[in-house]
Amino acid sequence: MSLANKVKEHFAAEFGESPSFIARAPGRVNLIGEHTDYNDGFVMPLAIDRATFIALRPRADKRVLAISLDMDDRREFALDDLQQSAAPAWIDYLVGVAWSLQARGLVLRGWEGVVSGDVPIGAGLSSSAALELATARAFHCVSDFEWEAKRMALACQRAENEWLGVNCGIMDQMISASGVHDRALLIDCRSLETSSAPLPPGTAVVILDTGARRGLVDSKYNERREQCEAAARHFSIAALRDISSAEFMERAHELDELSRARARHVITENERTLQAREAMHAGDAAALGQLMIESHISLRDDFEVSSPALDAIVNCANADQSCFGARMTGAGFGGCAVALVAAEGAPAFVKRVKASYIAATGNQPALYITRASAGAETVYP
Ligand code: GLA
Repeated sequence: MSLANKVKEHFAAEFGESPSFIARAPGRVNLIGEHTDYNDGFVMPLAIDRATFIALRPRADKRVLAISLDMDDRREFALDDLQQSAAPAWIDYLVGVAWSLQARGLVLRGWEGVVSGDVPIGAGLSSSAALELATARAFHCVSDFEWEAKRMALACQRAENEWLGVNCGIMDQMISASGVHDRALLIDCRSLETSSAPLPPGTAVVILDTGARRGLVDSKYNERREQCEAAARHFSIAALRDISSAEFMERAHELDELSRARARHVITENERTLQAREAMHAGDAAALGQLMIESHISLRDDFEVSSPALDAIVNCANADQSCFGARMTGAGFGGCAVALVAAEGAPAFVKRVKASYIAATGNQPALYITRASAGAETVYP
């Protein structure tokens, strides 16, 4: 049964009628452009065919009642009395989005409904952004405000930064809000302008979940951000986006070794992401794959956000005959890699890489062939 049908049926069983709306928002995988978003740089993610769904109907009393099928939990809150929690649980994503939308001056109506999703939690595929954007879309369904993807992404990012205390960039919320069916999306994380790019003909995107979960990711992520900001301050620029690699090469010796490596990753990654756009428009899978391979090396050696499990799965993928290129994706330290493969060979690629990765590490991976999907939307009525 599709997830839309699942939340619809549970809604009917719970509330005795069909839902008025079903909202949906996807997770994401990033093809290239990693750790560049908070440097005002470029990213090239795609919204995946895994998403969070909310079946709902409006309420007249400014309250939200949400039932999570995945958490087997039911929670309620009042829109005029939002409470922050010391240890955020799933419901706090909904509360945080309500807070952030109201902080923008939007007048929200309450609703009640059923939530379920198939973006794996904690795998680095942005299940949080999916839940946030699905919640924003649910409020849009019952309230009287315009849906503007960019504004919604910013509001959800603010919920995550300020309500949930996670210092993420804008990539995950932007792609969950703005994804385009069958395309990747180049996002300029400074202007938030987007333009879609096609996957090279005859290719498929495969997500490779190492099965290794991320530890200490928040503190290491924040440390990388600080290192990037310090390097930008050194060059008296607003963000590492503002220095070309030629200029950087000339002045790189001014930085200590560690800062130099961190900055070099961001500066070269921005260039690779723009080159990736060219490769995609030219339909050049080999060139795109090569850029992904170089991105991984830079993330592994200069930015140091890979892990033994990520390196192992990337090596297994890159060694396969069907693979154009693979790299870690998302924040790193565990979670998922992404590979560009020949579409015809994708099912066999999945089998072979699973086997070789298990043989190399003993970890149990999960590999999915994914398709680029649309961003947050109302799928019913
Ligand atoms: C996480 C963050 C994003 C981005 C990536 C790294 O997914 O949520 O904002 O910084 O890491 O590219």
